[in-house]
Order: sequence, then structure tokens, then C-alpha cells
Amino acid sequence: FEDDRLSRIASAIRVIPDFPKPGILFQDITTLLLDPVAFKDTIDLFVERYKDKEISVVAGVEARGFIFGPPIALAIGAKFVPMRKPNKLPGPVISEEYSLEYGTDKIEMHVGAVQAGDRALVIDDLIATGGTLLAAISLLERVGAVVAECACVIELAELKGRDRLGDKPLFVLVSP
Ligand code: PRP
Repeated sequence: FEDDRLSRIASAIRVIPDFPKPGILFQDITTLLLDPVAFKDTIDLFVERYKDKEISVVAGVEARGFIFGPPIALAIGAKFVPMRKPNKLPGPVISEEYSLEYGTDKIEMHVGAVQAGDRALVIDDLIATGGTLLAAISLLERVGAVVAECACVIELAELKGRDRLGDKPLFVLVSP
């Protein structure tokens, strides 16, 4: 690692075999949250990258984008917008469906939270197939925002989610 902070972050992420089903190596960021130095380093690395990029909105994807997104938004002076699983947001929403290994899922965003001309950063803990980030990008672009970049703590590079994002920039900290 070129940055000592990245090796501390990588070591603080716990890997749990066979969760949520056999054969899956689950990347558990809850242990990163238990290490205040590594957690702060994680936020700092994103803040250093985005503080002068004129980001007006940080969009966090449920569930773990809600952990990393808000401290970044506060530090760079952007608003935070939650992108939620279906039927959780109380106001009018726009929805975007995306495909999973079996079936489909959906994320939703409040109408009016993001406007045309907003410059967005999408945050999640992890990119696997890229379907979730693609849906988040689509929601933001449907309301006229520009998605400057997507950022994750972890990239499962072998699943090639990055390729599905096309020319949309993706920034990640660690790739196990
Ligand atoms: C995980 C992860 C991302 C998504 C990435 O969430 O936190 O949001 O999967 O997968 P993809 O790149 O293949 O779309 P999960 O489905 O576990 O939902 P949760 O955050 O609500 O637990």
C-alpha cells in the first residue's frame, strides 16, 4: 500500500466465510467501525479526495452507505441523501429497479432531495456486481444531477462491477 492508512483499513475489515450463504466470503466493515483510527482514516481519505471537487450532494446507499456517507458530507459541506430499500421513505419517491443473482431489487430516493445541477458523489461500503451503484447513478441522473464519481471502501474486483459502470469514475480504498 502506498498509504499506511490503507493497510490499517484493510486489516480492520473482517472476512466471514459462508455468510449470508455458503460460498460467499462476506466483507464485514463493522470491525472497521470498532477501530476509531482506521474508521477516521477511511473518512479522511474520502474527504481529502472530494473536498475541492464541488460536490453538492453525497448519496449514500442503504445500509452501509449510511455509515460512511454522512461524515464525508459534513466534512465537505455537501447535503446527504439516503438511497433506501423499497417502501422505507415516507415522502414521494422515484425508484430504480436492478437485477440480482436471483430476481430484482429496488432503491428509492425522495423527490426533491436532489435537483438538476447538483453534483453528486455516490457512497457505498462495497461494489460487487455494480448493480446497486448503477441504480443509484440512474436515480441521480433521472433528476438531472451530474454524478462526479462513485466511491466504495471495498471492491470485489473479480466480479468486474467496475466495467458495468462504463466511463463513470469509481474510487475504492481496498480490493481484497
Ligand atoms: C451489499 C453492499 C452493496 C451491494 C453491492 O448490500 O453493501 O450495497 O451489496 O452489490 P452489487 O455491486 O452486486 O450491487 P446488501 O445487498 O448486502 O444490502 P444491505 O446493505 O441492505 O445489507
